[in-house]
Amino acid sequence: MHIVTCAAPVNIAIVKYWGKRDETLMLPLNSSLSVTLNPVQLRAKTTVAISREFDKSRMWLNSVEQNIDNPRLQNVFREIKQRAYRCHSEKNNCGNREDMLNWHIHICSENNFPTSAGLASSAAGYSCLVSALAYLFGVDGEISDIARLGSGSACRSMYGGFVEWDMGRCNDGSDSVARPVASNEHWPELRALILVVTDDNKKTKSTEGMQKSVNTSELLKTRVERIVPHRINEIKEAIRDKDFDRFAEITMKESNQLHAVCLDTFPPIEYLTEVSRRIMNLVHRFNKLCGRTKVAYTFDAGPNACLFLLEEDVPRVLSLIRHFFRPVNSCFESFIHGLPIEVPRVTTDDVLTISMGIMPDTIQYVIYTNVGCGPQRLDDCDHSLLDEKGFPK
Ligand code: DP6
Repeated sequence: MHIVTCAAPVNIAIVKYWGKRDETLMLPLNSSLSVTLNPVQLRAKTTVAISREFDKSRMWLNSVEQNIDNPRLQNVFREIKQRAYRCHSEKNNCGNREDMLNWHIHICSENNFPTSAGLASSAAGYSCLVSALAYLFGVDGEISDIARLGSGSACRSMYGGFVEWDMGRCNDGSDSVARPVASNEHWPELRALILVVTDDNKKTKSTEGMQKSVNTSELLKTRVERIVPHRINEIKEAIRDKDFDRFAEITMKESNQLHAVCLDTFPPIEYLTEVSRRIMNLVHRFNKLCGRTKVAYTFDAGPNACLFLLEEDVPRVLSLIRHFFRPVNSCFESFIHGLPIEVPRVTTDDVLTISMGIMPDTIQYVIYTNVGCGPQRLDDCDHSLLDEKGFPK
């Protein structure tokens, strides 16, 4: 049996991907750009094993067996195997390895964050799977395009730091790949707060939502042709210069435009809730109070917010979030997860100036994190999710 375990991070788009020009190859209508979050707080872990002894291919996700016939998964398998054949024949190294490519595979994957966090866990999941398969089959070179076949945004989780997914021009998708723009060490003061909003509504999945927008939204066309290319260049400059004000403004405008496109979709799609809007309001009031842009929000296909800010502002911002949104019965400690932090009592001055009604019990908890690295191979057997027979531990 050959076995590999990897961990891969979650990414949050600051210039959003919304809409495909090819549904099978998962080619986007526009380039996008994201921040990779620290995998210590948010990561997928995947173990892949192949053996002559396995009688069929199987997959378990968060302890539940999944159907492996899912077309996206099958596309990923097909592509990585083709790439492996190519790599080995170039190196005149077929034989044994080629035989292995026909063996059945067992995959076991889990996330270290609750599904309720509503984060694009498929991005971390596919990035992790593709990284592990690449090690298993000895594939080197560009593989972010293989992760893209699983879920578009997954290609951006193939690198740490700040990552651009270039939409590419080729019809075969060979140039629609992710590229690092700056490393995870580039902007050490940058922090992220994931605000997990209490919400039971069933939402339209991103895949389906973006299809509807492509078919019906006029605004999406303008965005793709006239707005995104310019924003990608601007945000890259803001990242290069560590210009937080500029970074934050583009981030918020991008999030707002994504949700404007959703409203322009017919029938409209609404991902933001009253709580999301209240979070946006708090951010704008706080920035006004500070006389400059100190916090940025961004929302994906759900009501949870991701706030970006600098380390020095985290305690004050958390004190406000806790004041306005915290669950009534939870203790202060269980409200904030992730990096260690002392949160002071909110000041009367801040509360009076922000002047907003409180919405208790509307944010379940907050994950405090920073910018992190890309996928990692975990060599220690203790990390493996499969036992020595290749079944979930
Ligand atoms: C709103 O990558 O989940 O998070 O490619 O269909 O799997 P598929 O969609 P997915 O879409 C992510 C959309 C988004 C914005 C983004 O991450 O860029």
